[in-house]
Amino acid sequence: MAYISFYRKWRPQDFDQIIGQKYAVKTLKNAIAAGRLAHSYMFCGPRGTGKTSAARILAKAVNCAQGPTPNPCNQCENCKSITNGTNVDILEIDAASNNGVEHIRELREKAKYIPSALKKKIYIVDEVHMLSTSAFNALLKVLEEPPPHIMFIMATTEPQKVLPTIMSRCQRFDFFPISVEDIGKKLKKISAAEHIGVDDDALDIIAKYAKGSLRDADGILEQLASFEQDQITVEDVTSLLGVVDYELLFQFADILMGRDVKKGLLFAHNIFAGNQNLEVFIQEFLDHLYHLYIFQHYDQPQEIVEMPETFQKRYQAQAKKAAKTDLMFLIQAYGDLYKQMKNSEGAATLFKTTLILTLQPSSGQLQQDPLPKSIKQSKKPASPDSNKHPAPPENIQKDAAAANGSIEKNWLKICNLVKKSKISVHAMFAEISAYRCDGNTLYFYLDPKKSWHKDQLSKKNNKDLIAKALKQVSGTQYRIHFETEKEKTHKTIALDSQNNDFTTEDVPQNMVKESGQSSDIYAYLKEKFEIKE
Ligand SMILES: Nc1ncnc2c1ncn2[C@@H]1O[C@H](COP(=O)(O)OP(=O)(O)OP(=O)(O)O)[C@@H](O)[C@H]1O
Ligand SMILES: [Mg+2]
Ligand SMILES: [Zn+2]
Repeated sequence: MAYISFYRKWRPQDFDQIIGQKYAVKTLKNAIAAGRLAHSYMFCGPRGTGKTSAARILAKAVNCAQGPTPNPCNQCENCKSITNGTNVDILEIDAASNNGVEHIRELREKAKYIPSALKKKIYIVDEVHMLSTSAFNALLKVLEEPPPHIMFIMATTEPQKVLPTIMSRCQRFDFFPISVEDIGKKLKKISAAEHIGVDDDALDIIAKYAKGSLRDADGILEQLASFEQDQITVEDVTSLLGVVDYELLFQFADILMGRDVKKGLLFAHNIFAGNQNLEVFIQEFLDHLYHLYIFQHYDQPQEIVEMPETFQKRYQAQAKKAAKTDLMFLIQAYGDLYKQMKNSEGAATLFKTTLILTLQPSSGQLQQDPLPKSIKQSKKPASPDSNKHPAPPENIQKDAAAANGSIEKNWLKICNLVKKSKISVHAMFAEISAYRCDGNTLYFYLDPKKSWHKDQLSKKNNKDLIAKALKQVSGTQYRIHFETEKEKTHKTIALDSQNNDFTTEDVPQNMVKESGQSSDIYAYLKEKFEIKE
């Protein structure tokens, strides 16, 4: 007997053999049973999900000697000839290769004649979105007034490219990517029936690689079976497909999270020696980290990540073990690496560099949320002297926290710098805390009883020396604002000739209301803050 490819040999021959696509199958079966057949159908969906198969089954369901029936017998001459593709009344047109208008005109001519043997002449038009505009228009004419003895079943992987005028004349069914689990099951079934020895892990990789296409999965298994006579292993699959063994991804994540330098170096060596495509590896590793992230943050991860059950358990375990900050750090580091690799020839060098950096015992610490940690540190003074120092800024709003991490951490340093330049300012400054940061403006809060302190600190030269200390430590030029009431909204007054930043709080309210002239306000501020020109 001639050799038949898996995908043809394993093509579903009735509706119940179609995997997934429950909605489409059920609706079609019901319609056939109820005698409510449309004259044109549009099957939309990605490649290898069963569109052509379903079209042929529908053709049989309509034309079976015992039909129309939702369960074609597959025994009668009609069914058999449709399965073999020898029936003259079933016309399959591949629009990808015949996209011209002549072809559709010919089709239109033929449509006039009644079927020679079957009840209905059926046109199966594959990849219908590929038709030229004139061919589309010609097709539209047939669809507008279809003779009762014909039926159109069209299929497309790109429904958005099908003219709306065509789409609206069809009954549309959507076909979806087939789940990894279902693909795995089908592959198992085929390998058992075909006596192919294959490891379960190897099948899992094929199922994932096929990305929802059963046709691709069948094809890969067939290809592997043809060159591996004994047992098909994970290695066979990864080397054929150029994909990464899951095992390696779990291993690599473990090594990095454990900061195991020796194992890390050996791992990299094996990756290079194994001829693994580095970009693919990093891409897969990022996917792996993303999965871990989902398992850490989403209660029902199986709802959003598709993977075999055995893997779900492993992800669960690794996600549990991984520190959240560590995971963020790795995502950042390997995400950056991936970006760099895309524009560079030195992929291996870049990989080595990132590897070493991420294996450092202290790496990733910077990514930790600075707020809780620095507060804790400051509550336990490092030296007796620091008792005099204030608490660091507290309750800084969340978005400002990141920006001010360095301020909080270095609060003592900042205070010491202020102390060096003016001890009286330090005495007042040391008692207060920043509570809000808006862009580059830091707001410090003082107890309402300390309005005198506030006035003193608010003097331009005092503000300047505090800003200088802040800049020295954090690198950022902050504007500073002292207030005795929290959460006030501050409008910045623009003073054209000056870069000095003042806020409405620096100006008596009645002056703003009555004058509103920036020159008046400026004159006032100049005096108040001893600005020399
Ligand atoms: N839903 C499915 N159930 C069972 N087998 C399927 C299914 N989808 C695809 N297959 C397998 O893949 C082969 C190809 O499927 P089919 O030609 O029906 O896909 P298609 O959606 O028309 O793909 P394409 O858009 O690439 O033409 C089938 O012969 C069968 O082996
Ligand atoms: Mg098809
Ligand atoms: Zn039949």
